[in-house]
Amino acid sequence: MCGIVGYTGPRQASRILVEGLKRLEYRGYDSAGIAVQRPADAGSPLAVIKRKGKIAELRSAVPKDLPGTCGIGHTRWATHGGVTDANAHPHCDASGKVAVVHNGIIENHVALRETLEKEGAVFKSETDSEVIAHLVAFYYKGDLEEALRAALRHLTGTYGIACIHSDEPGRIVGARNGSPLVVGVGSGEMFLASDVTAMLAHTRQVVYLNDREVVSMSADDFRIADLEENAVDPKIDRIEWDLEEIEKEGFACYMEKEIFEQAESVPRALSGRVDRENGTAKLGGLNLTRKELHAIERVRVIAAGTSWHAGLVGAYILESLARVPVVAELASELRYRNPVVEPNTLYLAVSQSGETADTLFAMREVQRRGATVLGICNVVGSTIARESDGGIYVHSGPEIAVASTKAFTSQLAAFYLLGLLLARTHDLSHAEGVRFIKQLDAIPEAIKGALATRDKVQAIAKKYARSGDWLFLGRGILYPIALEGALKLKEISYAHAEGCGAGEMKHGTIALVDAETPSVFLVPSGHLREKTISNIKEIKARGGPVIAVADSDDREVESLADDFIGVPPVDALFQPFTQIVPLQMLAYFVALELGRDVDQPRNLAKSVTVE
Ligand code: M6R
Repeated sequence: MCGIVGYTGPRQASRILVEGLKRLEYRGYDSAGIAVQRPADAGSPLAVIKRKGKIAELRSAVPKDLPGTCGIGHTRWATHGGVTDANAHPHCDASGKVAVVHNGIIENHVALRETLEKEGAVFKSETDSEVIAHLVAFYYKGDLEEALRAALRHLTGTYGIACIHSDEPGRIVGARNGSPLVVGVGSGEMFLASDVTAMLAHTRQVVYLNDREVVSMSADDFRIADLEENAVDPKIDRIEWDLEEIEKEGFACYMEKEIFEQAESVPRALSGRVDRENGTAKLGGLNLTRKELHAIERVRVIAAGTSWHAGLVGAYILESLARVPVVAELASELRYRNPVVEPNTLYLAVSQSGETADTLFAMREVQRRGATVLGICNVVGSTIARESDGGIYVHSGPEIAVASTKAFTSQLAAFYLLGLLLARTHDLSHAEGVRFIKQLDAIPEAIKGALATRDKVQAIAKKYARSGDWLFLGRGILYPIALEGALKLKEISYAHAEGCGAGEMKHGTIALVDAETPSVFLVPSGHLREKTISNIKEIKARGGPVIAVADSDDREVESLADDFIGVPPVDALFQPFTQIVPLQMLAYFVALELGRDVDQPRNLAKSVTVE
């Protein structure tokens, strides 16, 4: 949600900032801007360029030869104030010497604004962020770090901030509380960003700031201290992702690339984590002894959106394999519910980005009450990954498209491994563990087979693309897949889609069925198959078109459905892997057919770091 980038060094800052913003565009994309210090001209106002719209608008507004080697930039996802040039960041004080970019929400901005206006400040935007620029200017006495610290004492809310002043050439000051900020350490140059992808082309050495920390950097030096001014010893991490991994590699968009990567990303999540000899899983990062694992009596998952759907599948896996009760909770609900943390309960915070505010705050709330929380995250070094008591990295590689696809199947892989490990510390026999691993081994090939339905899915998408309403129906472990299929379609095509338990349909949703409303059925191969076939017949009897996803050899379903997508047969417990893939492709092709912006759908952002 919003992206920050900063650069100080010998090179032309504007190029590096715009290029960094382009990489961060997935975090928010309704406006963008940069502020650059004018060279050898300390004291003059900063060069500030802001544009409503995507980074391309900003890029064409920035002069190619804009001088200056230190600056900050921002790409915005609007929270306070509409989408306008004026509301775009950076925000400046009245003299134009201070520029600030901000992610997060300043909750007390109204009161601060009133006070600052009484002091003579003139506001140019409707944003909460602009108060920071005026506050910094108010406290500035020749030391930007000091001024920012003084300003921070007045702020309530969340922030990732980068700030420059024209009187301090080459200096950038940043602060973090609830919104990620990373320092990039180059050779004779420094970077500051909300996300490592903005700086990966230039450096792999990074330092993650913690909440309540302030960084001050120049081209060849940086120092970090907490709000009480205690120096922090920086821990330099190395980023292993390749730049190519975040390029499109010939695909039309990131979502398509990420869907088709799943045959490689799922094995990456499983790699090195299977103990074939003992028929169990090896998950070193959990930081739990066998005894502690054995003592787990119940599990609660905390997550949002697609990660919550992975948690619902996970609940099914853990319950059926390990026989422990599991509830998947919506983080946004849990955090305000005064939750009861029971003993011997393991919490799992599931998040692709590891930065989702709802999940992070819910996790902190239960940790405060003594809970042990493990993170299931993709982004290494993310806040949830760092603040959890242990966890599993899903290693799906950078996921850029707003609609989550490969991270979802990698999260599923993590749940299958955890389910196996927990089950083996409980009642699952060695032979059953070995059999389970064999089934898991077959999944990457099955995903390839599911991806091979591409042309069929595209034809179906063309046929139904204009439908304004869709139903997605599944039972058992495929119920969350129905929810996920509906979410995928909604977020990138803007069609109305509802995910529903196929058995629950008759209790109300069936009223929506008509000849114009396709019902996408996810047909399980196990004991719920017959029940689902009955539900298909109920829809057919009411004139509703049926698209069925089922095992490729299921002739009965093929003959019943108007359109049939046959996926490789796998054991019923593993069907989420094969059934979600065509649904992701269906959403993608419908959105393409409708001419939507697949990677950056309206009103959304990749990582939701505000409430
Ligand atoms: O980064 P997270 O997994 O915590 O994100 C949670 C949701 O915001 C995310 O899954 C969202 O629902 C996606 N856009 C779905 O495709």
